Formats: sequence, C-alpha cells, structure tokens
Amino acid sequence: MSRTPLLAANWKMHKTVGEALEFLDALLPALPAEGPEVVLCPAYTALAPVVARCVETPVRVAAQNMHQAESGAFTGEVSAAMLLDLGVEDVILGHSERRALFAESDEALAEKLPTALEAGLEPILCVGEDEAQRDADQTAEVLTRQIEADLAAVEPEHLDRIVIAYEPIWAIGTGRTATPEQAQEAVALIRERVATRDAGAAERVRILYGGSVKPANAAELLAQPDVDGALVGGASLEAADFAAIVAAAAR
Ligand code: PGA
Repeated sequence: MSRTPLLAANWKMHKTVGEALEFLDALLPALPAEGPEVVLCPAYTALAPVVARCVETPVRVAAQNMHQAESGAFTGEVSAAMLLDLGVEDVILGHSERRALFAESDEALAEKLPTALEAGLEPILCVGEDEAQRDADQTAEVLTRQIEADLAAVEPEHLDRIVIAYEPIWAIGTGRTATPEQAQEAVALIRERVATRDAGAAERVRILYGGSVKPANAAELLAQPDVDGALVGGASLEAADFAAIVAAAAR
C-alpha cells in the first residue's frame, strides 16, 4: 500500500500576516514539482491571506483547532463552517499543547472529529504520551486510550479520511527527537489500533510523526515503513528548513 506522504507546518502562535506571506514567497518556489502533500497551519488571523496565496498551488491550509458546535455562545471559538468559508481544508485537533494548556478533552475530541469530517475538513488528530508515561512503560496504553476515545464516534469507513500525528510530548519543542525505531514502533501500534476498527482503513490512514523534526533527522524518520510524514513545529518557521524536510520526504 503506498500512502502519499504529508508534511504539515504547525506555526503555533507565530507569524503575522506579513510574516506568513514572506514565508510563502520563499517556500513556494522551493517545493518539489511532484511529491508529498504540504499543509500549512497558521494562526486563525493569517488563514485567509495564506489560503489566497496558496490558490493554484498544491499547498493546503489547516487551522490549529476548531470548536465542535455549529455555532453558539462560545466566545473566542471558531466553527468548522467558518474555516470552510475561508477555504481552509484541514484542521489540527487534539494537539498536546491544547490538551495540556487549554483543557482539551477526549470527550470534546470525540465530537470534533465527526464534526470536522461531516463538514468536509480533513482532521489531523494528535496523540502521544508524556515523559513519565513513557518511563513507566505506558506508551501503548496511552495511545490506545486516546485513539479509542477520540475516534469513538467516527464511522469505520471514514477512518482513512483522518490523518493521525504521533507526537510524544517529551519530544515537542525540546530538541529531543524520538529515535526512528521509537517512532516506527508507536506509529505501527496506532495503525494496529485503527485496524481493530477497519483493516482497510488502517492500511490507508496516514500517520505522521511529530516532535523536534528538523532537516538533519527528517530523512531517517520518514524512511520508517509506517511513518507517512511529519508534523513540524519549530523547524517549520523557516522556509528553507521546512523545504528541506519536504525534500527529505520526496526522496
Ligand atoms: P516541534 O513541534 O517540531 O517544535 O517539536 C511539533 C508540534 O508541536 O507539532
């Protein structure tokens, strides 16, 4: 089964509109003509201008979060319809920073996933264990729990429309990357968990690795048989670095 690699740039709370457009001026000419899918995830404020600049390019645009409700009294939140209205095609859900700092729960994610799919957005669901859980040998248990809880309301035949990102929390923004073997082992385990719901979808679903991916380590991580791409934070802020990571996947 050949799965098209996907490289996503998670800019977190970085880049004004001007900085985002400057990045695109540098990135777009540096992308390989054919190759992996590229998704940029700017802050809400830069979504519309980034979408406009990426029209007629292969680059897709994702939001970093969304609310599960259609509309309502949810100050500060954004709905799937609002994202679609801007031409956004993907949405990161369940990033560990949202889980840890903004009380994102598995219950909310279980609603967000089907909501995003019904709206026609491609969700990028993040899962991963923290350092204490890894040290206590609980990685498999944590990943299983997150996958089961977050995907509970997704119909089995829709599971392959989701992208899953394995992001060990101890590797995010720390400069400490999972070894290629650790990444492969966890990603394969996630695929197995999806297979318990639908074996065909598990073959097709793309599972990324995220956590201190940079040009120097991208190739070995992306070479793992079950790793279908990367979700890149810090190293996605510089166009040259992100282009080098995309190129590593194109090889
Ligand atoms: P990092 O972040 O590449 O800076 O470790 C990855 C992420 O949080 O998605």
